[in-house]
Amino acid sequence: MKKLCVILVILLAVGSFAFAAGGQQGGGGGAAASSALIGIAMPETHVLRWTKDGASLKRFAEARGYRAEDQYGNADQNLQNTQIQNFLTQGAKAIIVGCVNDGVGAAVADAARDNVEVIAYDRIIPNSADYDYFITFNNFKVGEFQGQGIETGLDLKSATAANPKYITLFAGSPTDGNAFFFYDGAMSVLNPYIKSGVLKVVGPYPETSADRANFQRIATENWQAPVAKTRMENLLNNDARNVTLDAVLAPNDTLARAIIEACLADAKYAGGKLPVVTGQDAEFDSALSIKNGQQYMTVFKDTAKLAEAAIILADQVLKGQAPNIPGATLASGDLLSIGDTGKKVVKAYLLEPIAVYKNNINVPVDAGFFTDAEAAQLK
Ligand code: GAL
Repeated sequence: MKKLCVILVILLAVGSFAFAAGGQQGGGGGAAASSALIGIAMPETHVLRWTKDGASLKRFAEARGYRAEDQYGNADQNLQNTQIQNFLTQGAKAIIVGCVNDGVGAAVADAARDNVEVIAYDRIIPNSADYDYFITFNNFKVGEFQGQGIETGLDLKSATAANPKYITLFAGSPTDGNAFFFYDGAMSVLNPYIKSGVLKVVGPYPETSADRANFQRIATENWQAPVAKTRMENLLNNDARNVTLDAVLAPNDTLARAIIEACLADAKYAGGKLPVVTGQDAEFDSALSIKNGQQYMTVFKDTAKLAEAAIILADQVLKGQAPNIPGATLASGDLLSIGDTGKKVVKAYLLEPIAVYKNNINVPVDAGFFTDAEAAQLK
């Protein structure tokens, strides 16, 4: 009898230890995390990449045992603020925000008051000191790739001022901090050619985004394709009426395709004589356009990797761990300003973009960025 009691005590002791260890090994991903909600607030859906981002963020959050809900702001900051408030009401522990503009600051301040972590996702949250982390790509390098696309496409290294090439410039939304880095990265490549007279600008020419007046004249409110198309049509009928454009700096694919549409309606550029047009986001329609020789290049930003990195960051922050995100580097040196909100320099973690041309269109395909049906059309 005595022996039986001893065995029972040992079994009870082992059982209770295993249960406790199991709870800890759950890495906090046990009951607490499964009930924890992560809110996902994306800016819009008229630029297709954000629907992919939202779906990826939800998938990776749920894979780590969190509840997750994705909402889209339809490029309306008031709507997005309401969505963020709803996440707070639901008791979200973290909110991942791709903002529309700096109006998001009020909602971020509310989150801070509720001790809810806000992570800026691929767009800085400007004029706010109420959050600590930003995860994005090296947006200056995105622009450099666009500038190098034009340098290559026009063979500027061999061009001469006696026979200059002509370019017109577009920028992204002035409400989007990224747009300034994209533009400055591109102009860091193109300005030397403009200064030497090899490249001539048709239309407004802000040397850098610091020239806010001229930057505003080439910017595209809320990345709206119709705005870019109308501006390109006006350029073709006015400033660029008596020249043949050799290149257009387009800051992303949505705008690139709108600009190409305007060019194709102009006899000067129809029939395969399009200018070199840059882009960004490796959207399928643009990948197809590049394959068919219309758009010249894009910049692939693997938003599945960005989403996974954002969820790893959120998970580590919620567990009080020092962030350690595979594939992302903490901005430093010249890139520190990527995290400058205007009120605080937040920790900006950067992933690397990839320049994509006709000869390496397989890169986003091989990364699984497209559906099988889309990939089949790009092979
Ligand atoms: C930017 C983003 C780009 C671009 C744009 C359109 O903030 O970094 O990928 O596509 O938004 O939404």
